[in-house]
Amino acid sequence: MFKIAILGHGVVGSGTTEVFFKNKESIEKKLGGEVDVKYILDIRDFSDLPYGDRFVKDFGVILNDPEVSVAAELIGGLNPAYDFVKALLNAGKSVVTSNKELVAQKGAELLKTARDNGVRFFFEASVGGGIPIIRPLHQCLAANEIHEIAGILNGTTNFILTKMFRDGMGFGEALGLAQERGYAEHDPSDDVDGHDTCRKICILASLAFGKHVYPDGVYTEGIRGITREDVSYCENWSGSSGKGAVKLIGRAVRSGEKAVVMVCPAFVNGSSQLAGVDDVFNAILVRGDATGDVVFYGKGAGKYPTASAVVNDIVSALKNPGSGKRRSLHWEDAPKQSEPEDYGGLTSGFYLRIKGSNPEAAANGAFGDVAFLSGNGRPGDEAAFVTGKMSGGEFGAKLGALRGKAEILGRARVFDDL
Ligand code: HSE
Repeated sequence: MFKIAILGHGVVGSGTTEVFFKNKESIEKKLGGEVDVKYILDIRDFSDLPYGDRFVKDFGVILNDPEVSVAAELIGGLNPAYDFVKALLNAGKSVVTSNKELVAQKGAELLKTARDNGVRFFFEASVGGGIPIIRPLHQCLAANEIHEIAGILNGTTNFILTKMFRDGMGFGEALGLAQERGYAEHDPSDDVDGHDTCRKICILASLAFGKHVYPDGVYTEGIRGITREDVSYCENWSGSSGKGAVKLIGRAVRSGEKAVVMVCPAFVNGSSQLAGVDDVFNAILVRGDATGDVVFYGKGAGKYPTASAVVNDIVSALKNPGSGKRRSLHWEDAPKQSEPEDYGGLTSGFYLRIKGSNPEAAANGAFGDVAFLSGNGRPGDEAAFVTGKMSGGEFGAKLGALRGKAEILGRARVFDDL
């Protein structure tokens, strides 16, 4: 009989426990043996639940119980999750987690700790909720050199942008609705400022390119600055085939030995497989040299989709308890950058909406030939346009030429190659 422990009884923790007990029989069939939850760690009192007798408040009980071979860390955040996970791995127990902050900050170290102790560290639920992406990336696509990963990785912001697009809502109204529906956190900054997407693209980039990418070194821009007007200009974007869309994109591109990683709002073509990904859905586009484009699509958040990924990882860790020699889920540590990197290698077009006495002349003066976008009810002192392709550095320099001539009202990258 296998014994497992679940750390945390919040949304994902309780979902994992529920899914486990609901599907225990079929899980045991897949596993080829009996399995039970021996402990659930939480400081709150849940004694009235059907499995209330399994709750413990002292982490040491789990750590020191040799019967527990796999623990699921579903507490979230770095503290105390990091200390708990490290101690469990060092005690010879496999750990699975949904904690993207932990993996994005400490992934290389914890993978090494797991390897050194001959156990597993799995984190399928940390990216894309219920969408299988970590295992496909390091197992099913192992034959490929991955050139690029680009994804809509945050359900909350995708819901907000969809509401702005489809229903003409402003950012504030759409955010309010996301909060009302329980998608956005009370403090929505992790979602809307792009930090959640950043952690997820860092995990995918680290895995695909083999070197740890730390979030602090990644240029990250959220969607607070996107307005209904920007969304409406995007619909009229003449370069797009079909209806263009504004999406918050996490993008990682291989550039020689390096990964160029960024998070930003971007216009994507109507023909892009990412353009039609709406509401709280996520999609991850992986470009391999043998497969070409592969897209993973599904519910990227939510109690049960995320719990599904956690339970799958528990089953995998029980089935393959680990050996120090198996290294397919692995990446090396790398120097930590405190400043976002220079993204000279990644060029794109840029969308700008500006206001001034002669905005068209200001746009041409700064950026040369640009494609102006039409907008219904556009004020006479406003212009919206898309530039030719350039690096972020070049864009920043050219932006300087607008100073004193026009005010910037909106901006986004233009990823017409996705
Ligand atoms: N806040 C996240 C989202 C939850 O909206 O996608 C899943 O990581």
